[in-house]
Amino acid sequence: MAKKVQASKHDQVQITKMDYRKKRPKAKNPVKVQDLTLRDGHQSLFATRGRTEDMIPVAEMMDEVGFWAVEVWGGATFDTMHRFLNEDPWERLRTLKRYFKRTPFSMLLRGQNLVGYRNYPDDVARAFVERAAANGMDVFRTFDALNDYRNFETVVEGIKEAGKHFQGCICYTMTEPRMGGDVYTLDYYVKKAKDLESMGADSICIKDMAGLIAPYDAYDLVKALKKAVKAPIHLHSHFTSGMSPMSHLKAIEAGVDIVDTCMSPYAYRTSHAAIEPLVMTLLGTNRDTGFDIRLLANINEVLEKEIVPKYRHLLNDTKMSVIDINVLLHQTPGGMLSNLVNQLREMNALDKLDQVYEELPRVRKELGQIPLVTPTSQIVGIQTVNNVLFDNKKERYKMITAQVKDLCYGLYGKTAIPIDKKVQKKALKGYPRGEKPITCRPADVLDMELEEVQKDVGGLAKDLDDQLICAIYPVTGRRFLKWKYGLEEAPDSVKPKTLDAVKAEEEWIKKAKEGELIEKKQQKVPPKGLNLRTFKVFVDDEFFEVGVEEGGSGAPVVSYVQACASPQQPQIAQAVPPGPPPAVPQPSAPPPPPPPPVQQTADPAPAAAKSAVEGTPLTAPMPGLIISIEVKVGDTVQEGDTVLVLEAMKMENSIPAPVSGTIKEIYFGSGDSVTKDELICVIG
Ligand code: CO
Repeated sequence: MAKKVQASKHDQVQITKMDYRKKRPKAKNPVKVQDLTLRDGHQSLFATRGRTEDMIPVAEMMDEVGFWAVEVWGGATFDTMHRFLNEDPWERLRTLKRYFKRTPFSMLLRGQNLVGYRNYPDDVARAFVERAAANGMDVFRTFDALNDYRNFETVVEGIKEAGKHFQGCICYTMTEPRMGGDVYTLDYYVKKAKDLESMGADSICIKDMAGLIAPYDAYDLVKALKKAVKAPIHLHSHFTSGMSPMSHLKAIEAGVDIVDTCMSPYAYRTSHAAIEPLVMTLLGTNRDTGFDIRLLANINEVLEKEIVPKYRHLLNDTKMSVIDINVLLHQTPGGMLSNLVNQLREMNALDKLDQVYEELPRVRKELGQIPLVTPTSQIVGIQTVNNVLFDNKKERYKMITAQVKDLCYGLYGKTAIPIDKKVQKKALKGYPRGEKPITCRPADVLDMELEEVQKDVGGLAKDLDDQLICAIYPVTGRRFLKWKYGLEEAPDSVKPKTLDAVKAEEEWIKKAKEGELIEKKQQKVPPKGLNLRTFKVFVDDEFFEVGVEEGGSGAPVVSYVQACASPQQPQIAQAVPPGPPPAVPQPSAPPPPPPPPVQQTADPAPAAAKSAVEGTPLTAPMPGLIISIEVKVGDTVQEGDTVLVLEAMKMENSIPAPVSGTIKEIYFGSGDSVTKDELICVIG
């Protein structure tokens, strides 16, 4: 049995003598643990697609473990739920609260960005925090992508007023392979921790979203922070690079108070270290978690058997390796890299990946050496891809996204180092708020919005919670409320997947692999019923669309199979990457029909119409969602005028007119999705 090990003066973990046949002694200073399974876990591994109904089966058991808190909510949760799952994000809080009777709830709050991608005005921020607290939120883990704590002011006021826990985050980032360099030094982090303490932080979190913190840096950092501030220190470190379990242990040795883990089926890869090995590692020490490993095993069994099979298809397991070496090489978040790869793939430009790696640190530096975390990771990432794809030798930053312009204006806050003057000037040319950047707190220049939203959504929103969904997500929020109140039927794609459907799919994959699908195709096809639902089945590079219908016995009846993909379109067969959900709807969904032009009574097939009009075509330079069309048929435009705003990977791009002339025809409206090179309008 364990012997008492002579602990050095600095070593804060001591192994106590323990007789394992007797009762486990209570640790003097147990490490507190926050579980992330129900938020960051499924966000990192299953594109945030976890449904409330799949959290309930383990909720009561998880409540028994003794977690410091369970994280159940965050920006991507709020977004994905109303966009892809047809679930009310507020309702999840109230539902889960009925099962978690003793464990506090925690959420990730993006400071003044709330659970969206831009800074919202103070009235929206105040209302959001108030409603989150009222719906059951206890711990508000608050971060700002620029570590500019002026963006905390309003939400912290609200958190304190509601009597809730304010956890202030320091986004951990780096420019060198280890902590240090010119900007992100030990002193930088200590200063940030002191700033948070002076704002009244109840705890301070080192938010290592990319799994960058190396074990010995974690040790030094926690030691320094413990010395500098009184508030408990919490480490959030993703597994992505493979270092986090080691970093946890070194942080624990340095006296960290709280760490974040996941239940093992939701652990590792781009998620977090698992709880079970940590429990065993600390067993019998003065930092023993006190958790019952058998209870954890029981929870895992339910997750493995009943829950995970519904999400396995979302796991990006095309690689054998569970760690991402690129993170160690490039010091950028794993989710950001996979987003870049996806974006390049959609543009048929995967061969430019090396150029992107080269351009990325340059763009980041020019944009103020900002930390890379949502949304800045996307802002820097997409701009980098735009530069690689559209710039030429003569001109850099040819296509600047609206978000980069906002950043240059100061709308996100103060950057770590000043933004490159040339880039800033170019970005702000013709910027609607003005060409001179601001230095004040960003929300000080934002007009209140809530009243306007309330007027706009009118009776569609029944309460403040509904209104906030629309305030934060204007387009998809409204669509969700229509589903919620039965004004529009929700599409099949947002409906849950049943275990029966999973089994049917697995059978089809098996048959496809055995080459039996072709024969089946020649069988007599029964008529399709009303409850038919379509599933995609991926087999290596091939993709089949399978219609599944619940039969009378409850067993799914497969009524048709259609092979859809050709090897030329391998992107369809890719699993959904971890990280924020794509802004663009599934590529296989048929685009909505173009709005009929006003002056035409009969609208021929779009293809025929598109070839009939003469003039210069304006095509989509990238796949995306049309946010707005700034012109109408008959308008005259000058070359370079903005014709439409296209959202791609959550960034807005103003698409200019390629020539001067008259708008002859427009084939899409706002809210429509377009693929790359799709004809949007004709200028003659
Ligand atoms: Co995280």
